[in-house]
Amino acid sequence: FLTELHWLDLSDNQIEGNIPVSNGSNPGLDLLVNTERFHFGKNQLSGEIPARLFHSNMTLTHLLVENNKFTGVIPDTLGFVQTMKMLDMSRNEFNTSDFPSWIPSLQSLTTLVMEKTGLQGSVPASLFSLHQLQTVILRNNKLNGSLEIESAHSNQLQLIDVQNNLIESFTQKPGYPFEIMLKGNPFCNKSGEGTETYCIETQQTGTDSTSLQNCLTIECRSNQVSSRACKCAFPYVGDLIFRAPSFLNLGNIATYETLEKSLMLFFQERQLPVESVSLHNPTIDSDDDYLVIHLQVFPSSQESFNATGVAGIGFVLSRQIFTPPSSFGLYVFSSDGYKYLAETSSGSKKSSSTGIIIGATVGGSVLAILALIIGIYAFRQKKRAEDAAKRIDPFASWDSNKHSGAVPQLTGARFFSFEELKKWTNNFSETNDIGCGGYGKVYRGTLPNGELVAIKRALQGSAQGAREFKSEIELLSRIHHKNVVGLAGFCFDRAEQMLVYEYIPNGTLKDGLSGKTGIRLDWMRRLNIAIGAARGLQYLHDLVSPPIIHRDIKSNNILLDANLNAKVADFGLSRFLGEKGHITTQVKGTMGYMDPEYYMTNQLTEKSDVFSFGVVLLEIVTGKVPIDKGRYIVKEVKDAMDMTKDLYNLHETLDPVVRSGATPRSLEEFVVLALKCVEEGGVNRPKMSEVVKQIENIMEIERLNPYADYASTSATYEGENKGLNHPYTESLFVYSEA
Ligand SMILES: *[C@@H]1O[C@H](CO)[C@@H](O)[C@H](O)[C@H]1NC(C)=O
Ligand SMILES: *[C@@H]1O[C@H](CO)[C@@H](O)[C@H](O)[C@H]1NC(C)=O
Repeated sequence: FLTELHWLDLSDNQIEGNIPVSNGSNPGLDLLVNTERFHFGKNQLSGEIPARLFHSNMTLTHLLVENNKFTGVIPDTLGFVQTMKMLDMSRNEFNTSDFPSWIPSLQSLTTLVMEKTGLQGSVPASLFSLHQLQTVILRNNKLNGSLEIESAHSNQLQLIDVQNNLIESFTQKPGYPFEIMLKGNPFCNKSGEGTETYCIETQQTGTDSTSLQNCLTIECRSNQVSSRACKCAFPYVGDLIFRAPSFLNLGNIATYETLEKSLMLFFQERQLPVESVSLHNPTIDSDDDYLVIHLQVFPSSQESFNATGVAGIGFVLSRQIFTPPSSFGLYVFSSDGYKYLAETSSGSKKSSSTGIIIGATVGGSVLAILALIIGIYAFRQKKRAEDAAKRIDPFASWDSNKHSGAVPQLTGARFFSFEELKKWTNNFSETNDIGCGGYGKVYRGTLPNGELVAIKRALQGSAQGAREFKSEIELLSRIHHKNVVGLAGFCFDRAEQMLVYEYIPNGTLKDGLSGKTGIRLDWMRRLNIAIGAARGLQYLHDLVSPPIIHRDIKSNNILLDANLNAKVADFGLSRFLGEKGHITTQVKGTMGYMDPEYYMTNQLTEKSDVFSFGVVLLEIVTGKVPIDKGRYIVKEVKDAMDMTKDLYNLHETLDPVVRSGATPRSLEEFVVLALKCVEEGGVNRPKMSEVVKQIENIMEIERLNPYADYASTSATYEGENKGLNHPYTESLFVYSEA
């Protein structure tokens, strides 16, 4: 009945009995001629594998029958299946037999796994010239004689594992571009040049001998990834960025193995709930020569980390408490965030797996791991993006609204109903009212999972047309940067327009500088805020397409998160930058921050934001508001400045909080940068990318690491900041002084 069935996956069950083939009027699996995959591994199947199952008219590419109780002989009819790519018959109870002569005729074969299948005799040299062949695992058999690898071997080969056999000789050619594992063969008892290369233990720690084999067939649900121990889980992921590694040969696998091992050891010592780690995809960043390695950390015991686990791991990585092997040097960690906290991991929204074969992630060949993972990772990223796109159910109510145009195209933001938001804000109660602006009121909302959000509710009269609202949320949903406040969703329901943002707990920079929030912003923290805000703005200018001009940069629109990282907020006035590099609209903005050139000409460019940002930099360093009682901050600093004098004669002008504990040179350069940003003519102002570079340089004067990511997770780290004395972090994270 299922002649169009493409995959039959019964693996990892408790199925007993024989494989049924047609017999009289009883249909059998031999009728499944269009099936590409038979996955029968890890069951209790027994009897012979029926020879009639295989014939030349079938399209089978994967036959996985490992870890069963099959007996008898391996059927020769398999040799007819010329489409076969992956064959795994490991750990059954087959009769002892010679290495099947038909295997070298399977022209499509990429992976052959016959571990402990009772094979004897010699391995035919012609096997290795199958031109698609990548992986051969034949360990724990009785293969003997000489292992011959023809010089015309497959150029895809990555691994030949013939450990624990009776192989006596092997012609060594140390230049083989793939890995050969010969440990446990008589060959290894003979000492000779190069013997050690093939006979040393290359097993990874924390894995057992079966895991390589298991991982070849493991399939995970969408968004899950197979771990080193072959379990599907949601890893915590991010990039390790090494600023000055002392090696440049990315191909040396051993280097990464040491890093992996030391990471794992570190997590174990700290008793973090980590099952395993894996590193992929090392690249050298072309801009700045940094080595970037993608890291996955897998949870032990469960499929997901809980908040405590994520916070613990994020903490030790982002604050550089882990010390990598010395050849790697200094690093920073940039997390991708974690969306799979334990309590939500079994939600029903996940689509069922379409099945993905995960390649070997353990065993001797990290080379194979890297090669495979790169492909898988790319695939998963794509899949993840597709899944996310599916989840954003383009709300039914949109179509019913006749004048609203097409359904918005969103990336990442969610639609919320009015009822949901009403519930989460306790019916828009006064206690949840956290502010207001021209747009309307802002409420704090608590999602069912405890996460806080900020909800901007448009005043009934000030709501925009549906088209405007749509273009606004399309714009906002495309913005994803850790220094820009992210849109979590929106509501367009019952004539209400609401925008739902991530909640930023520590208020605005303006309130921070005025002392209103009670958090002491010393010079180190202010530099961290300046670099964050600069990067957020640079992102909007340079990395969003089409670029976005903020148009209302001010200390009130820079928010501070739990770790006092800056986040640029409020694009209420933002508009796309047109093709000519400028747009002309009614002049908007805030007094004191407004670009005089824009005011005169109505021509808005990115340099207008640079001007406003320069004013913010002056606020940061002086602690004064831009305009107060006829005093204008730009003029005041310019007038006081005398570059021939100590601290450029700014002792009276700069904030005393900043002056204590700052290197004079960093203050001087900071003021010079700020004044460049507020030059009269836009062409004389630096671009935001240059501003970012300058602030980074200033941070280095203060021996701060401008790349340290202090907010890798949204979780809180209660109590974790005690007893910390890393040179880059101590000045920033002693909260108790405040
Ligand atoms: C390899 O094993 C086979 C079967 O046990 C045996 O007949 C043959 O003589 C062995 N060859 C060598 C070179 O030991
Ligand atoms: C989080 O996970 C760890 C280890 O997996 C466990 O010990 C701890 O109790 C969990 N915490 C909560 C709050 O569930």
